[in-house]
Amino acid sequence: MRKKIVAGNWKMNKSLSQGLQLIDEIIAATSDLPSNSVLKIIAPPYTHLASVSEKLKSVTGFAVAAQNCHHMPNGAFTGEVSAEMIKSTGANYVIIGHSERRQYFGENDTLLAQKVNVALANNLIPIFCIGENGDERKTNQHLEVVKKQLKEALFHLTPIDFSKLVIAYEPVWAIGTGVTATSHQAQGMHNYIRSEINKKYGKDISENTSILYGGSCNPQNAQELFACLDVDGGLIGGASLKTTDFVSIINSFAN
Ligand code: PGA
Repeated sequence: MRKKIVAGNWKMNKSLSQGLQLIDEIIAATSDLPSNSVLKIIAPPYTHLASVSEKLKSVTGFAVAAQNCHHMPNGAFTGEVSAEMIKSTGANYVIIGHSERRQYFGENDTLLAQKVNVALANNLIPIFCIGENGDERKTNQHLEVVKKQLKEALFHLTPIDFSKLVIAYEPVWAIGTGVTATSHQAQGMHNYIRSEINKKYGKDISENTSILYGGSCNPQNAQELFACLDVDGGLIGGASLKTTDFVSIINSFAN
């Protein structure tokens, strides 16, 4: 059975004290949920990882993710943070290939493949983001774009390593725009991604890979999106910054 996951990507938001307060509120508001129903992952900025991990280490059903890592194991890269450092804070996941990293920091799939390798070498689980932009969707290239991202960044992995990954489908046109993919569009793409994984790694691995949807997911649309057969949860940006919204999205799985 694949894991159901709701992950909150805080991006560059929240001071340390604001972040810790948000965590306290989320813990309190989810304490009634069976701890194994949905894995809740919190992805705060690097500076908060150790404190957030410390707070969540004794709370079941939670994990912590970094939002990025450097592609080299260590060295003279002033200002950068390695996978090993992230792991040492208590985090177990790392978001790799977010469209904002691709767009604003010029990260391409060759570089992202290196990040995936260094994350796995340090026992961090990549949450790997793929997705087409608005023009690519309009011109009907979305399937090809996603297929290429999978192939170039991930399909070099051994089956054992690939089976550790979480995939996030995040159409760029839906991120932070308030425009969400319809459940039909999300299911169509998630099913396509799973079929590409099946072709490369076989049914066992494809059926056990969690594929999250991200892009303007909110309390109003989460239930419908999560009801899709191949949607195993969400990667939530804006709505993860408010306790009531984030918890309501988590609860969408229970309803
Ligand atoms: P959003 O962001 O929910 O604010 O659209 C999603 C993401 O970037 O992961």
